[in-house]
Amino acid sequence: MDRIVVRGGACLRGEVAASGSKNSALALMCAALLAPGESVLRNVPRLRDIDAMCELLRALGARADWTGEHEITIDGATISSPEAPYELVRKMRASFMVLGPLLARFGTARVSEPGGCAIGVRPIDQHLKGLRALGAKVRLDHGVVEATSDELRGGRVAFDMCTVNGTQNVMMAAVLTPGETVLENAAREPEVMELAEVLNRMGADVRGAGGDRITIRGVETLRGIEHSVSGDRIEAGTLLCTGLVTRGDVTVTAIDTSTLESTLDKLASMGAELTIEPERVRAESPPTLREVEAVTAPFPGFPTDMQAQLMALACTVEGSSVITERVFENRFMHVPELQRMGADISLAGRAAHVRGVARLSGAPVMATDLRASAGLIVAALAAEGDTTVNRVYHIDRGYERIEEKLRGLGAEIRREG
Ligand code: EPZ
Repeated sequence: MDRIVVRGGACLRGEVAASGSKNSALALMCAALLAPGESVLRNVPRLRDIDAMCELLRALGARADWTGEHEITIDGATISSPEAPYELVRKMRASFMVLGPLLARFGTARVSEPGGCAIGVRPIDQHLKGLRALGAKVRLDHGVVEATSDELRGGRVAFDMCTVNGTQNVMMAAVLTPGETVLENAAREPEVMELAEVLNRMGADVRGAGGDRITIRGVETLRGIEHSVSGDRIEAGTLLCTGLVTRGDVTVTAIDTSTLESTLDKLASMGAELTIEPERVRAESPPTLREVEAVTAPFPGFPTDMQAQLMALACTVEGSSVITERVFENRFMHVPELQRMGADISLAGRAAHVRGVARLSGAPVMATDLRASAGLIVAALAAEGDTTVNRVYHIDRGYERIEEKLRGLGAEIRREG
């Protein structure tokens, strides 16, 4: 099994381009199912999760092929069975977002329940609540969600909590549902906005995305489109942390910096010297950085997907930082691994109290989930000696060629296995 070995100590410098957004691309691939025709997505990152989604779309009978280095062509005209099996859905939770499009197009869909993952139970009740509000009959049958409806109709959905994929799934069902649908307490993430923008270019009528109230007027049909996926804001934030943890100077390009505000605010509060332009951001580190306080929250709050990377950075700065995880109930799996590297962290409920140490030390560590493994790589870059990160398949789910990108910035990093 692959592992990544990092020899810490190199000061990272230079420019690196962000890849396309994993989470946006996944939702857009599901949206392509809404049109009985071809859609071409460009700037799609080469990741395990994207391949898993291609496999799922093909299992439904759609065409989903890589037609270029970072280009995927999807054709929803050939969908033969609106059924997403467990062995494919369990590989990647975002698969559950095929439910809305399939139900809207075919009036029926069977999608395996994705189940929990390392970071939490991750229920789907809000997705189902939304589809029921559109008139769908939804039942759970041996771990499979079966949704049917002779005739969906617009309705009002008030989400009990902000859910990104929940908002996207119901939005994709509503665009082909006659009448007006209103989503309240909707997620405001950039990935929700990009999905709405693309649906509108496919011929839909979605208004208010980016705010917490979205109105959708159903249309008869949608058409395929060509779209270039936006840059990955979480990968961009991670790359900036790799520069800062080595007290370096890194510029990330090909990223809409307006999607990074809360992350940049935290880095600036630690003393990072930022040069922010619309499509690129430079983070220069002064010799010392300051402690930080962060509470994860839905967009525009501080992203939970940046929590582990910020914690790794906080392990190397003087003073006491407090990082509170409010979105997922079990997203501190990286803490014991950071402690193995000599970090001084204590947990109190949903808060991690991080006291900076003079120097982390390299150690063999275990990746437990995608962002935890990114946090371990950030820490390893500042550690003394070698760190071996095991189970890197987690990082390959969301970071394209990470060791090449970091080597390009001067890191001593290699993949083994
Ligand atoms: C999306 O997951 C992202 N995944 C996650 O990124 C990200 O961490 C998360 O949003 C929050 O920003 C994709 O876009 C593919 P949620 P999602 O529904 O939509 C609870 C990564 O690292 N909830 O917004 O599944 C849920 O348990 C991944 O790239 C319910 O209770 O997250 C959580 O506590 C990890 N019932 C909270 O809401 C529901 O029906 C927010 O989850 C739905 C959610």
